[in-house]
Amino acid sequence: MDSPSGEPHMLNIVIDGHAIQVQPGTTIMEAARAIRIEIPHLCYHPELSISGGCRLCVVEIEGRADPVPSCGQACQEGMVIRTQSEQLTELRREIVDLLMADHPLDCVICEKAGKCQLQKYAYEYGLAKTSHKAHVSRTLYQDDNPFFIRDHKYCILCSRCVRACWEIVGANAIEIFGRGFTSHVATPFDGPMIDSTCVFCGSCVQVCPTAALMPVSRAGKGREWEMQRVETICGYCGVGCKIEYALKDGAITYAQGAREESVNGDFLCTKGRYGWDFATSPDRLTRPMIRRDVAYALGLTDEPWQLPETSPLEVRKPKISDSFIETDWDTALNLVADKLADIVQSHGHDAVMGLASARCTNEENYLFQKFMRVGVGTNNVDHCARL
Ligand code: SF4
Ligand code: SF4
Ligand code: SF4
Ligand code: FES
Repeated sequence: MDSPSGEPHMLNIVIDGHAIQVQPGTTIMEAARAIRIEIPHLCYHPELSISGGCRLCVVEIEGRADPVPSCGQACQEGMVIRTQSEQLTELRREIVDLLMADHPLDCVICEKAGKCQLQKYAYEYGLAKTSHKAHVSRTLYQDDNPFFIRDHKYCILCSRCVRACWEIVGANAIEIFGRGFTSHVATPFDGPMIDSTCVFCGSCVQVCPTAALMPVSRAGKGREWEMQRVETICGYCGVGCKIEYALKDGAITYAQGAREESVNGDFLCTKGRYGWDFATSPDRLTRPMIRRDVAYALGLTDEPWQLPETSPLEVRKPKISDSFIETDWDTALNLVADKLADIVQSHGHDAVMGLASARCTNEENYLFQKFMRVGVGTNNVDHCARL
C-alpha cells in the first residue's frame, strides 16, 4: 500500500541484527546484498530471473519452522532473518557435499581453480571430498566452436547459462535437456553450437560458476591468480562496455564484462568478448605512414615508386611496408593539413567530408565535428555509429 505522499511504504526488517528498511518486493538476498551481507549462492545471479534450484541460499526467518531460499523470498514487514547459524551451515554443507558427488575433484589441474564457486564453498565448508558415493554422470566434452569449450562433467545444472542466453541475449540457443542424471545443457537436438541460434557472445561462459563453460583462448595459459587484470572500455561501438582483460605475461588470455559496471555488467557482445587479438597483431599500425610515391615527391625517400593502376587496395599488398614508409606524426599531420587546404582552395569547403569513429571518445568526436565545421568550414560530418 502507498503512503499518503504516494511513496510506497517501506518495509522494516532485521537481517543478522541490522534493522533496515526495504522497498516492497525486495528479496531477502537483495536486502542482504544491499548491506554487504553475502549469502552463499550458486544459481542466483543479480541480473537473471530466480531459479531457486541450488538451495544454497537458505536463511532462517523467525516464526517459520523451516529455512527458506533467500533468493526467491520477498521481504515482509517485521521479518527477522538470520543468514548464519549451525543449522544453515550444516544444510549448505550437505548441498555442496551432494554437488561434489557428481563433480570431478581435479581442482589441481582445473582452469577455473581460484575462481570456481563450487571450489570456494567446498573450501568454506571444509570438504576435501564428498561423503556420498561419487559418480560423475555427465561426461560430454564439446569443443565444436572457436570461442568456448563445453565440458559437461563440471556442470552443476545451475541454469545460469540458459537464463543469460534467453533473458539477456535473447538467443535462446541452449536449454537443460533430459531428466535426472542424463540432464545436461544442450542446443536444440543436442547439435553443435554453430547450428544453433548462438551468437557467440560468451555471456553463458561468464555467468557459469564452474569450469563447465570456458574460453578456448584461456586453455593452458595459467592459473587465475597468476593473471594480471586490466580494465578498459571496448572500442568497437558507442555502447562503451567496460571490459576486464586477464593477461598472462603481458598477453591477453580472455576478456570479460565488468560486473559492477551499469552499462553492461557481466555481458558483452561477441566483438568485445572475443575480438581483441588485434592488440598484439604484427599487422597493427602503431606509427603514421606515408605512401611511397607521395614520400618520394616530398623527398622523404630516394626510391621512386608508382601507384598500381589496378586498384588502390593494391597498395596494401603484399605487405604494407612495400607501399608505405614510416614517418613521424608532425610530418604526417602537416601533409594531411596541406592536402586538405589544397582541396578546399581548389574545390571549396564542401569538397571535404569527415566521418568520425565510434572507437573514439565522445570528447574526441566533439573535437572532430568542431574541426570540420570551424576548421575546414563544412557541415559534411557524420559518424559510423556502429561498426
Ligand atoms: S554464447 Fe551467447 S548466444 Fe551463445 S549460448 Fe552462450 S549466451 Fe547464448
Ligand atoms: S554450464 Fe555452467 S552455467 Fe550452465 S548450468 Fe552448467 S554450471 Fe550452470
Ligand atoms: S562492441 Fe559489443 S562489447 Fe563492445 S561496446 Fe559495443 S556492445 Fe559492448
Ligand atoms: S541461490 Fe537461491 S536457490 Fe540457488
